[in-house]
Order: sequence, then C-alpha cells, then structure tokens
Amino acid sequence: MSVDTLTIARPDDWHLHLRDGAAMGSVLQHTARQFARAIVMPNLAPPITTTEQAAAYRQRIHQALPRELVFEPLMTIYLTDHTAPDEIRRAHESAFVHAVKLYPAGATTHSASGVTNVRRCARVFEVMQRIGMPLLVHGEVTSAQVDVFDRERVFIEQVLIPLRRDFPLLKIVFEHITTAEAVSYVREEKGPIGATITAHHLLFNRNSIFMTTDGQPGMRPHYYCLPVLKREAHRRALVSAATSESARFFLGTDSAPHAKGDKEAACGCAGCFTAASALELYMEAFDQANALDRFEAFASFNGPDFYDLPRNSQTVTLARSAWTLPAEFPLGDASVVPLRAGGTLQWTLQA
Ligand code: NCD
Ligand code: ZN
Repeated sequence: MSVDTLTIARPDDWHLHLRDGAAMGSVLQHTARQFARAIVMPNLAPPITTTEQAAAYRQRIHQALPRELVFEPLMTIYLTDHTAPDEIRRAHESAFVHAVKLYPAGATTHSASGVTNVRRCARVFEVMQRIGMPLLVHGEVTSAQVDVFDRERVFIEQVLIPLRRDFPLLKIVFEHITTAEAVSYVREEKGPIGATITAHHLLFNRNSIFMTTDGQPGMRPHYYCLPVLKREAHRRALVSAATSESARFFLGTDSAPHAKGDKEAACGCAGCFTAASALELYMEAFDQANALDRFEAFASFNGPDFYDLPRNSQTVTLARSAWTLPAEFPLGDASVVPLRAGGTLQWTLQA
C-alpha cells in the first residue's frame, strides 16, 4: 500500500555541522525548520575543546536563531591528545554538552588538532565511561598506506575493537557509517554502541561521485564527503540497518556546508550539504525500501533513547508532493550547493 502522508514525532539530527559566524547564520534556519534538536559538531577552526567555548558557541547559535523557530543545539567538545579528565567532568556538569568527538588527526575537515593515538586518551575515557558521556567517533584510519575506501573497515579492526575491549562500558556512537562491516559490527557486538547514518549514504553509492544521474562520465564534487560513498552492496547494507528493528541506528545528516568555490576546486573540500531537505531525502530512501513504517523509530526515537534524552512530543508531517530543490542557498557572503541541487524531491515537509 502506498501512503501519501506520514506524521511522526518531531525528529532530531544526531550529527550536524553548523559552522560559525555568517555561515552559521545562513544555514541554522534550515536545520531548525526540520529538527527539534541537533548534535552540533565541534570542528570549528580553532575547534571547540572546552566547556567554556561550547557555552559561548551555544549562545551564538541561540542568538542567530530566527524567533519563530524552536530549536535546541546539543553541544559537543573536540577531543585532543591533551584533553584533561577535568574538562570532561566540567562538560558533564554543564548539562548542555552531550558528547565528546574523536577525530583521528588528519581524517577530515578541521581535524588537524585531533587525536594522534587513542591510547593517549585513556584517562579521559575512564571518566567518560564512569559518568556515561558518549564518545562520538569519526571511524576512519588516516594512514597513507590504507586505501581511502578501506579506512572505515580498518578502523574497526585497529581502533574500535581494542578501544571497546579496554572500555567495555564506554558509550560510543560510530558516526556516519558507510560499510557493511560497520553495520554488522554495530548490530552484533555487545555493549553500549550506536551509529548514525546519513541520507546521502542511504541514497547514493560511489558511482555518484564519478557519473551524472543518467550515467554520463563527470566528476561531481558535491557528492564528495568523508567517509567517502562506498559501493552499492554497502549502500544496501546501510538501508537494511536503518529500516531494521535495531534501535542502534539513528538519523545523523552530517550536513557539512562548504562554499561553492571551495567544493568546485582543484582540491575540493569534503562534505555534502543536506540540511535544507534532510527529512525529504531520508523519506525517499525509506520509501524506496518500502519501509515508511520504520522511519519514526530511526528519525525520532532511537537517538534520544541512546542519549537518555526525552523523545520530542510535537509532530511533523511529510507529504508525497514533488518539489524542486534550489540550485544554491546563501552561505554568509558566498553560496552553498545542496546535494541534489536543482533535482526533484518526492516528499515535502509540511510547514
Ligand atoms: C565534515 C566537515 O566538512 O566538517 N565533512 C564531511 O565530509 N563529512 C567533517 C566530517 O564529518 O568528516
Ligand atoms: Zn561530520
């Protein structure tokens, strides 16, 4: 049976890049229209490494929020080799820092201050494990010897398994998973682990980076993100995880705005901008999988349950009604090209 409207508890975005300053002022409204809350990534330049910086960033977000929108940013701090255990305690006491983000040094945009070796963070992980503070991991190794398409799988073997052996009660979110190996690991292992899945990894495989929609050759920088899109078998594994009964998988857009010129360049930045059409994109993936009845758990229940936060009481309605995504949106003084720019989306989020 084909359904034409779907009303669900208001969703949250459990992985989002909002940036700062004028760029944040431009993109925040899109997320606040779509989501009640979002886990805000700390990879600013310089990164948000302290509770004090997170408090100031949170205030800037609240100030930039259009009055008519109700939205709560859930703050995170950026783990470095030098993060002190006391900083974690302060973060926990603040009640507005909800997680600590682990970027392996050099893995992605603004990760130069990231962790060079997780062993350096043992004392921090002990405190996090005791107080129940989630560790959000960008799960890719960075060694030049490891193929870009294998970096997530190798991360599971080399980093995640030993880390979880040493800290079995540490709550971990394996962020923006992209492979069948990550799906099986999260689905099957014991202990407190969850994973976010982006809309782009549910909808596209790596051909999209190198081919146009009608199969003509052509490099498409707006489909380039990290972890990079993988082959079709992995995309299918992600769809089956997101639409499954498992409460360990939840929505995280990883919407990552970069100015058009920084993407359409000889060395283009990694990141897909999906904030303006996130729910509509996810709905397309769930619809194609004939699993619209599984969308509410993935988008609105599994995330807050994992983070021990209340589920949202308001609702949103999505309707089967086609619309055309603009070619660009403003981003401070520049513009950002959304994923599927100028394309037709099949679902509309009702105002
Ligand atoms: C993100 C960004 O631009 O901040 N880019 C991306 O490709 N996802 C960083 C990240 O989450 O890896
Ligand atoms: Zn991200």
